[in-house]
Amino acid sequence: MPRTGDGHKPSVGGRAGATVTRRSALIGLAAVGAIAAVDVGGFLFAGGRLTPRTVTPSRFVDRFEQVFGRHEGFRRNHAKGVSATGWFTATGAGSAVSTASVFHAGSRHPVTGRFSLSGGLPDAADAADTVRGLGLVFRLPGGEQWRTAMIDSPVFPDRTPDGFRDRLLASKKVPDTGKPDPAVMALFLARHPETAAAMDIIRRQPRTSGFGDSTFHGLNAFRCTDRSGATVPVRWKLVPEQPVRHPGAEEESGRDYLFDALVRDVTRGSLRWRMFLTIGEPGDPTDDATRPWPAGRKSLDVGTLTVDAIDTEAPGNARDVNFDPLVLPNGIAPSDDPLLSARSAVYAESFNRRSGEPKSPSRVNVSEVPDER
Ligand code: HEM
Repeated sequence: MPRTGDGHKPSVGGRAGATVTRRSALIGLAAVGAIAAVDVGGFLFAGGRLTPRTVTPSRFVDRFEQVFGRHEGFRRNHAKGVSATGWFTATGAGSAVSTASVFHAGSRHPVTGRFSLSGGLPDAADAADTVRGLGLVFRLPGGEQWRTAMIDSPVFPDRTPDGFRDRLLASKKVPDTGKPDPAVMALFLARHPETAAAMDIIRRQPRTSGFGDSTFHGLNAFRCTDRSGATVPVRWKLVPEQPVRHPGAEEESGRDYLFDALVRDVTRGSLRWRMFLTIGEPGDPTDDATRPWPAGRKSLDVGTLTVDAIDTEAPGNARDVNFDPLVLPNGIAPSDDPLLSARSAVYAESFNRRSGEPKSPSRVNVSEVPDER
C-alpha cells in the first residue's frame, strides 16, 4: 500500500470559484503562497454575506486558539487524528449526474484519509459525544483531485461563518466547571434559532460505537453537471458496511479508546463505506447546512470506499494535507453555501500556520495501540 503524501500546498480563496481554485491547487508552491496573500482576506464576499462584523480567516483561526489554546504544528480544529489509506471504486451510478472521472463505472482511485475528533486539543480524551471527522483526498486521472471533509452529524450547527465563530466562544469551557457557561450558551442560542434547531436534530441521532460504524456526512451542498450540461444540487454521505452498534458508557474507557478501536479494526481487515449522492429538488436549501433535505430524495449509490491502513501522523501522509472542500474535480462545483468559501480560506490559514511551526509527535501512535482487553 503506498503511503501517499500530499506534495503540494492547499488551494485558497473563495472568490475564485471551483475552476480557478482547483487550478490553484495544482500549481507550484510559491505561486499558491502568493495567491494566499491576496485572496484569503475576502471570503465573506463569496458568501454574499459581508457584514460590519467581517471576520477574516486570520481572526477566525485566532478564535480557535483563544478557545483551545495554541498547539504548535497541529490543526486548529480536528487536532487529534490519524492518517489512513485505501481506495474508492465507482459503481458508475454517479455518471448519471456528473462527468467527474471519480464516478466512471469500474474505476478505482487511491485515497488518502484522516480520521479525527473535532476541537483544537491534540491530546483530548476520546469521548462518545465528540464529533468524529473523516477527510478524504481522491487521486484521479490526469492529476485531478477531489478533497472532502465530512463529519458524523446529520446537519451542521451553523448556517454562517459568523455563527460558527460566535458559537465557538459561547462553548468555551469555564475553568470552574469544565463546561460551557449555560447562560452564555442560552443567549447565543436565543440569537441563533437555526443552531438550536440543528442541535435538536443532532441530539436525536443515536451515537454509534466508533469511527468504523459511523456515517460521515459532507453536509454542504454542491452542484453536479452531467454530459449534457444539466446541473443538479447534491449532498454526499458515506454509510458504513460494518454493522452499527450503540454501546453503553462502560465501553468508553481509555484516553484514546476510539482511535485504538479503529486501529485494531483495520488490523483485522479493511473497513468499507458506501458513498451515496442525494439529489436535491427545487426548493431544497443549498445555502444552509443546518437544514436537512426532506426524506425520500433520490439517492445514488456511487461507489465504495475501502480503508486498509492506518498510520500515525507523519511527514508526507495526511498530516500534511489540507482537506479544502473547494478542491473539486471537473463535474462537481460549489453551491451558494457561505460555509464553503469560508472553510477554504480558514483551512488555508490553519494549514499555513501549522506547516510553519515545529510539531511534537501526535497523541495516537499506531504502533503502540494496546491489544483488546
Ligand atoms: C465556517 C465553517 C468551518 C470552519 C471555519 C472550519 C474550520 C476548520 C479548521 C480550521 C480545520 C483545520 C484545518 C487544517 O489545519 O487542515 C478544520 C478541519 C476539519 N473540518 Fe472544519 N470548519 C468548518 C466547517 C466544517 C464542516 C461543515 C464540516 C463537515 C461537513 C467540517 C469538517 C471538518 C473536518 C472533518 C476536519 C478535519 C479534516 C482533517 O483531518 O484535516 N468543517 N475545520
